[in-house]
Amino acid sequence: MANLKIALGSDHAGYDLKKEILSLLGELGHEPVDFGCGPEEKANYVLFAEKAARAVQEGSCRLGVLICGTGLGMAMAANKLKGIRATPCWDEYTARMSRAHNNANCLCLGGRVTPPSTARDIVRVWLETTFEGGRHEERLASLREIENRVCRPPDEP
Ligand code: RB5
Repeated sequence: MANLKIALGSDHAGYDLKKEILSLLGELGHEPVDFGCGPEEKANYVLFAEKAARAVQEGSCRLGVLICGTGLGMAMAANKLKGIRATPCWDEYTARMSRAHNNANCLCLGGRVTPPSTARDIVRVWLETTFEGGRHEERLASLREIENRVCRPPDEP
């Protein structure tokens, strides 16, 4: 996928890896948008997951990359937003499947568990892989059906 606006968010535990991924996205010709945190903050991952995932939900960014210590808290927080499909990925296989089968729109990484070079490979594969549709579309429709029952739509600006 060429030239995408990509929302980035991290807490302190994901900050260094976020910098690495920011550089990679630039190298790949994408436009990263950093929603924090900054270098000096001890941060609550939930707040930065929401900011970055909100940009994806509202369409100002096409995809998001969210990084905390494990990627787990980021995914939990981002998935509270209607329309967000955030998946922690720890290798190229999970990255590929999260796009091909789950049509993930936010990739969650763990700065304390995934080395930078592996994270770079994961992001590359994640961006190169497209949703397969077909039988997987039906499953995503079921997810949307749950969202329609239980999630609030985004607030009016
Ligand atoms: C921060 O210490 C850590 O709890 C956080 O980065 C994350 O791993 C939560 O899921």
